Amino acid sequence: MPKEELFNLALRRQLYFPAAEIYAGAPAGFWDFGPVGVRIRNKVVDLWRKELLEKEGLLEIDGAVLLPKPVFEASGHLKSFNDPIVQCTKCRALHRADQLIEEKTKEKIPEAKPVEEMGKIIEVNKIVCPKCKGALGEVRSFNMMMRVEIGATGDQTCFLRPETCQNIFLDFDRLYKTGRLNLPLGIAQAGKSFRNEIAPKQTLLREREIGQMEIEYFFNPKKINNFERFEEVKDYTLNLQRLEKGFEKKTCESAVNEKIVSGKIVAYWLARTQQFYSKLGIPLEKMRFRELEKEARAFYSAETWDFEVETDLGWIELVACNYRTDYDIAGHAKGSKKDLAVKEEGEKFTPHIFEVSAGIDRSMYVALDCAFRKEKRGPEERIYLKLPPAVAPYLVAVFPLVNKDGVFEKGREVFEGIEDNGFNAFFDDKGSIGKRYARVDEIGVPFAITIDYDTLKDATVTLRERDSMEQARLKVEQLPETLWALSAGRKAFNQLK
Ligand code: GLY
Repeated sequence: MPKEELFNLALRRQLYFPAAEIYAGAPAGFWDFGPVGVRIRNKVVDLWRKELLEKEGLLEIDGAVLLPKPVFEASGHLKSFNDPIVQCTKCRALHRADQLIEEKTKEKIPEAKPVEEMGKIIEVNKIVCPKCKGALGEVRSFNMMMRVEIGATGDQTCFLRPETCQNIFLDFDRLYKTGRLNLPLGIAQAGKSFRNEIAPKQTLLREREIGQMEIEYFFNPKKINNFERFEEVKDYTLNLQRLEKGFEKKTCESAVNEKIVSGKIVAYWLARTQQFYSKLGIPLEKMRFRELEKEARAFYSAETWDFEVETDLGWIELVACNYRTDYDIAGHAKGSKKDLAVKEEGEKFTPHIFEVSAGIDRSMYVALDCAFRKEKRGPEERIYLKLPPAVAPYLVAVFPLVNKDGVFEKGREVFEGIEDNGFNAFFDDKGSIGKRYARVDEIGVPFAITIDYDTLKDATVTLRERDSMEQARLKVEQLPETLWALSAGRKAFNQLK
């Protein structure tokens, strides 16, 4: 779907819009989520919590956004979390060197390619400033960390975290010891991270303030293949885009046996990731895990599979699956001078980590993109979001046909009854019924209930399905069970009649 249509919908229906948009000079890459957007975004995180944290027995934390400088000296971010940038010698505009080269040569340039090599490519291909055609200067490394001085004297330098997982590494020792835990063990966090992107673009896809939901799975490296829960996924097929071999479908068992991945724990988490995005409404044929070569991987990763989804904008990375080895715990042990090793079964070792790092806003964007539908019905055009009930902003809308003669009051009673049964409902008594349906279709509400004069007589309502626009008449008392069965996929709408 063209990105303008989704953006127009986002603005029109209160999903998301630029932060501080009434001020002309507000920096790009910061977004506010409106009343509808915040609901969808929260549902994406709730689904992640249910599917990947609760079902997997992981621990969740909520850590500080600002962390002191030594944390990022030890993590390597102050030295290595850089983007290659180049400035126009004429108009002074700044550009991401790798992106300029990619646009011109159509070749994928790993961010970690040495800046000198990028400079040579720019020279050979005669790449100039896209804004004014001026000559470009030297390519340099630009550190993306955002610095904040704390305290009245400003002598405590902190940085906004560039990835939520740093709190998890810092808290691991306390949680492990006070929780009397054993490995393998997963700790997760959903929250905000910050990156001083040179060229934020494509709305939620390249932000400076980023929503992340990250899982860090700690394990004994000798036991990467000693993992019972692998049995649950061994026959499950992964879509893999491999470096040498291109696209291949492989069962988790083959991926492990053929040493395509480092071990069972890695394959297990790739499977769970793919299954989670299926529940978010992304078709399997649009998903892949792209293997990254060494140069393209983050500095802390020994093996990376980027989970990507195909859209009109090309393949979009939603999740970085990184085998971070002992990089983080060893680094923070050295930086803090604390012993962060664990002792299990007489063996002392530094835990290894496999990470599943998902972008919340990117995941939401792609779920919206995949759900967007525009259909012609006779002379009318209809736009709706075919969101799965789990991430729809509301499960059901309640519309009294008129707001007189007790119909409005009956509508409120039905609405509150639905809320009391644990469903999210939306009440609207304004405008024609057609317009009310159109409004909730556009934000992806799967069902709508209409209350009319017959409701007052026989306690029946009309239930309408968003996708088919079909309607069924049923008793008010049947609503909770019917809504549950429909939203859980236990019943199809046409089975109601
Ligand atoms: N924690 C990995 C990332 O932020 O990409």
